[in-house]
Amino acid sequence: MWEILLVNVLLSITGFFVILNVVPKFKDMFLKAKLSGIDMNKSDKPEIPEATGVITSCIFLIVMFIFIPVPFSKHWFNKEWGFPHQEFVQFVAALLSICCMVLLGFADDVLNLKWRHKLLLPTVASLPLLMVYYTNFNSTTIIIPKPLRSFFGSEMDLNVLYYVYMGMLAVFCTNAINIYAGINGLEVGQSIVIAASLILFNIFELNGDCWTNHLFSLYFMIPFFFTCLALHQLNKYPASVFVGDTFCYFSGMTVAVVAILGHFSKTALLFFIPQIVNFIFSLPQLFHILPCPRHRLPRLNPKTGLLDPSVFQFKEMKLNTVSRLVLNIYKMFGLVRVEHVSEDADISQSTNCTLINFVLKFMGPTHEKTLAIYLLVLQVLCSVAAFAIRYPLASLFYDR
Ligand code: UD1
Ligand code: MG
Repeated sequence: MWEILLVNVLLSITGFFVILNVVPKFKDMFLKAKLSGIDMNKSDKPEIPEATGVITSCIFLIVMFIFIPVPFSKHWFNKEWGFPHQEFVQFVAALLSICCMVLLGFADDVLNLKWRHKLLLPTVASLPLLMVYYTNFNSTTIIIPKPLRSFFGSEMDLNVLYYVYMGMLAVFCTNAINIYAGINGLEVGQSIVIAASLILFNIFELNGDCWTNHLFSLYFMIPFFFTCLALHQLNKYPASVFVGDTFCYFSGMTVAVVAILGHFSKTALLFFIPQIVNFIFSLPQLFHILPCPRHRLPRLNPKTGLLDPSVFQFKEMKLNTVSRLVLNIYKMFGLVRVEHVSEDADISQSTNCTLINFVLKFMGPTHEKTLAIYLLVLQVLCSVAAFAIRYPLASLFYDR
């Protein structure tokens, strides 16, 4: 086992250096192809290559393709053991789903798809994976947490709902990373922390009964971690490349794939606490209960060089009852700051409902680099909390 992991780590480190070397060489090509975006939080508004996540995802896939024979090598030399076809299909289907997601994510970067398509893409890409889950495991029974056992019994077979849940997990992981973005290094930084947390969790679980699932997850998570680490060098403040939706989809799908096939989706979700909070906080804007501008990323104050929360404007009179209720609740809990812009024209403005803007509202104007550090420290603290929930507190809810 350890020698296989060693090969995996060595291949991943090679991938790390290839990315650092190759991505800068593609910059001009991306700019010529108009695959670029304006870095909105810089005073000179530079145009930066976007969707470079497609190069790093391809390098990740190449690392994985080269690695495929390694875990199965012992079966080639010892024919008596029989080839583990199921494991092999699982491996290949996982890569197929990630590969589909990269393709669809790149399509999004090139074509700027609508939100409804963004929700559909991960569902489509997760189909090969769900098919393999069906043929290999088809286990759709969940263990009910102790406090709820008097209502639902100790186990419940969710049947087709379990597949819906897994499809939704892929949609959530991909989009949650994509909407928790907008300052240099955040998309990749959060992926690094999530990958590192999952690697730690998998290593802890290598001594448990389900060690093969966690070993399988490590085969994917280690190269993923090094891929993100290399991309972060280029995307951190001041960014020389943007990662694009391609990366966000690739990242979310890779985590969803290992969580589904490794049977630890609940634990994986624990490492998404900031993303879950940001998603729930964003819901009124995502569902257009409150106005949602095209970009909700913080805005640069050119005078101070610091970031302020971005805002959306609205007419108080035009808000319906639900919108007014939501805004008042958010205001009451100090989640948003609402101000009158013009008394005569009845125009007000509120800070956008994202975790990034909330942190800015809480901390006051902050430099982009410092804000990225704060948000990544928050991600790390949430991972520490996730481990506390997963290990000491889990016994309150489950037998093991
Ligand atoms: C999501 C968010 C949007 C946010 C955007 C930023 C929702 C519903 N959508 O949209 O509010 O503004 O991500 O990633 O929450 N950019 C920067 N600096 C960065 C990263 C991005 O200026 O560090 C800008 C660039 O102009 C870049 C653009 O954001 O071109 C990328 O936006 P895109 O990924 O297309 O936005 P969405 O994912 O649709
Ligand atoms: Mg995006």
